[in-house]
Amino acid sequence: MSTFLEICKKRQSCRGFSEKPVEHDKLVQCVEAGRLTHSGCNSQPWSFIVVESPEIVGQIAQYAQQLKQNAWLNTTKAFVIILEEHAVLNPVLSCFIDSQYFAKGDLGSASAYVCLEAAAQGLGSCIIGLYDRKKICELLNIPIEKQFGSVIALGYPLDDTIRTKNRKAFEDIVRFV
Ligand SMILES: Cc1cc2nc3c(=O)[nH]c(=O)nc-3n(C[C@H](O)[C@H](O)[C@H](O)COP(=O)(O)O)c2cc1C
Repeated sequence: MSTFLEICKKRQSCRGFSEKPVEHDKLVQCVEAGRLTHSGCNSQPWSFIVVESPEIVGQIAQYAQQLKQNAWLNTTKAFVIILEEHAVLNPVLSCFIDSQYFAKGDLGSASAYVCLEAAAQGLGSCIIGLYDRKKICELLNIPIEKQFGSVIALGYPLDDTIRTKNRKAFEDIVRFV
C-alpha cells in the first residue's frame, strides 16, 4: 500500500503507452476519484466522458496532435475528458462572484485526482493542453459551446521508470511563519 506522497512521486506525465488495453474497471476507479474531488461550495462543476472504444480514442488522438511533440498520442488507450458544467454557488457568494469563479480550479483538482488514481492503479496519464475542441465536441455529441476542463490520455506506460522531478526548490517556494 503506497502512501499518498508516494503516489504523487510516482505520477508523472506518460508520453508513450504499451499495447495492453486498460481495464474498464480501472477507468471507472479513475473517474470515481474525480467525482470525489472537493469543489467551491461543493458545486461539482464537472462531468466526465470516458473514451475507451479504440476507434474513438484514435480519432481524439488525431484531434489532439496540434503539437508535433504530441505524436505519441497515437499510443493512447483511453481518454478521460472533463467538461465544465454550470456551478451553483451558495446564494450569499453568488451575489459577489460569477457562478464559474471557482470552476477552473475545481476542474484542475478533479484532473489531478484522475491522474493520481491512474498512478495508484499502475496506469500512466498525461493531461493534454492543446486539442481541437470543436472536432472533439462534434465527435462525442457535446454541445459546441461547452468548455473543457481537461483531456487526459491514459494507458499502461511503455516505460515505467520514474524520472527525477524537475521542480522549483522547496525552500524557494515555501515559507513557514
Ligand atoms: C494543463 C496541462 C497541459 C499539458 N499539456 C501537455 C501536452 O500537451 N503534452 C505533453 O506532453 N504534456 C503536457 N502536460 C504535462 C506537463 O508538461 C507536465 O505535467 C509537467 O512538465 C510536469 O511533469 P510531470 O507531469 O511528469 O511531473 C500538460 C500538463 C498540464 C497540467
